[in-house]
Amino acid sequence: MAFSSEVRTAANIAVVSDRVLITGCSTGIGAATAVLLAQRGKYVVATARHAETLRPLEEEARRLRATLFTTSLDVTGDASRRAAFHFAEEKLGGVDILINNAGYGQMGPVEEVPLELARAQFETNFFSLLAMCQLALPGMRARGRGKIVNISSIVGKISLPMGGVYSASKFAVEGLTDALRIEVAPFGIQVILILPGPIRTQFPRTAALSVEPMLPNLEDSPYRPWAEPMLAKWKSGKPRAGEQSAGICAQVIARAIDDPQPRARYLVTPRARFLYWAQKLLPDSTKDVLLRKLHHLRMKGATNL
Ligand SMILES: NC(=O)c1ccc[n+]([C@@H]2O[C@H](COP(=O)([O-])OP(=O)(O)OC[C@H]3O[C@@H](n4cnc5c(N)ncnc54)[C@H](OP(=O)(O)O)[C@@H]3O)[C@@H](O)[C@H]2O)c1
Repeated sequence: MAFSSEVRTAANIAVVSDRVLITGCSTGIGAATAVLLAQRGKYVVATARHAETLRPLEEEARRLRATLFTTSLDVTGDASRRAAFHFAEEKLGGVDILINNAGYGQMGPVEEVPLELARAQFETNFFSLLAMCQLALPGMRARGRGKIVNISSIVGKISLPMGGVYSASKFAVEGLTDALRIEVAPFGIQVILILPGPIRTQFPRTAALSVEPMLPNLEDSPYRPWAEPMLAKWKSGKPRAGEQSAGICAQVIARAIDDPQPRARYLVTPRARFLYWAQKLLPDSTKDVLLRKLHHLRMKGATNL
């Protein structure tokens, strides 16, 4: 456990409503959001599986003279989750804003993703997020205020080929969050979904790694013609079409948090907005053709898509 810029104590910040706990801050959206919120005067507990990955955030917070504490948290572990809330209680006196950001994309053709990898995907992206909400809510209800921000994805609204399991986990986050928002509104708690499109982070690299256990089978896989180019693209580190920075996503999250009447969903990137409206307005048959085209999936025997 480490902390930086400890300029305030639990005793003198117990009255504020700006105490943030955020998961998955080693890189990407989590790291950018933790720093931005601390910079804007929030009291932040930034967490990651390995505490040493949070050192750069501590240094940045020190430089900005912002309040940011760090502690390790593997969201899949019950003891680890409880310890993180205990830490936030000790350092800040509670959590007013929970940001469930930790997550990754388990990729691969639906037919070939091993069940244990699909279960692990749901454990991190869905069950852990649910458990974090359950730990945060009693304190928020007791105080009659609080915000939960769940980082979903545009693929929680529109499922893309080779990402069925990841999409399913984010659809589950969407379903859970829509019910939660209505359930806890009477207690003064607001629940917000963030739906990023492509954001420049470690996400594609981790997605490529997630396919590695399937690679020996991919050699003979009927999906190889489509899976291989996608894998190569993720591995290459080249920017994806329409990609935006983690900082842009952090700004949307910060805006949603500061809005006294936040929307239920915030779309991040023009690509996310395009896919969101395509999903809403296009018939399934047209949408499927569009997605096959985008992902270069040729129908058997067809000369075009
Ligand atoms: N980047 C995109 O294009 C994009 C688009 C839509 C949605 N999202 C969502 O945005 C969120 C953040 O992803 P990102 O783009 O910032 O990717 P990232 O750079 O790969 O960061 C993911 C973060 O999640 C953490 N994490 C993974 N499993 C964890 C666990 N069991 N316990 C605690 N932390 C864990 C990672 O920690 P380690 O360093 O320890 O692995 C890392 O800090 C994810 O929920 C993702 O699904 C991303």
